[in-house]
Amino acid sequence: MGKEKTYALMLENLKDLLEDDDFEISILANTSALMMERLEGLNWVGFYLLRGKELLLGPFQGKVACTRIPLGKGVVGSSAERKESIVVPDVNDFPGYIACDEATKSEIVIPLFVKGRVYGVLDIDSGRLNRFSRTDLRYLEDAAKLIASRLEKIKLHEI
Ligand code: SME
Repeated sequence: MGKEKTYALMLENLKDLLEDDDFEISILANTSALMMERLEGLNWVGFYLLRGKELLLGPFQGKVACTRIPLGKGVVGSSAERKESIVVPDVNDFPGYIACDEATKSEIVIPLFVKGRVYGVLDIDSGRLNRFSRTDLRYLEDAAKLIASRLEKIKLHEI
């Protein structure tokens, strides 16, 4: 199956999954699982959630990862601070890159905006150089928008 078709199907499944769920941790956990299952060549998919000036590890699929990333640091912290997606074709070329898994060669990070504020980021890693194209960026930004708009409609976890 081609990339466009794979993403179109994945987004359809994501919409169904979001409609049936009103708990943010389940939404983020199942989204990670769906992406890991459907998209080829990935070694880590997950979320970092902004809490104050740090991004904390959220639901993910893959190996154990770094738990706290300061805003502005690494690809994750830079994306959240700049409020924009970052595609890193070769992680060795990204100044301040935070290596959680040495196998990772390329990465994409997309911020999620809930009610106009950065809620967190979607972070996806690959063991292949240059894994993420403009097509990946476009569809993953669409996925991030779907997730964020669902999060805007539900009650977010408080303690
Ligand atoms: N490489 C990321 C850290 C998170 S892991 O990839 C799961 C970064 O530089 O922010």
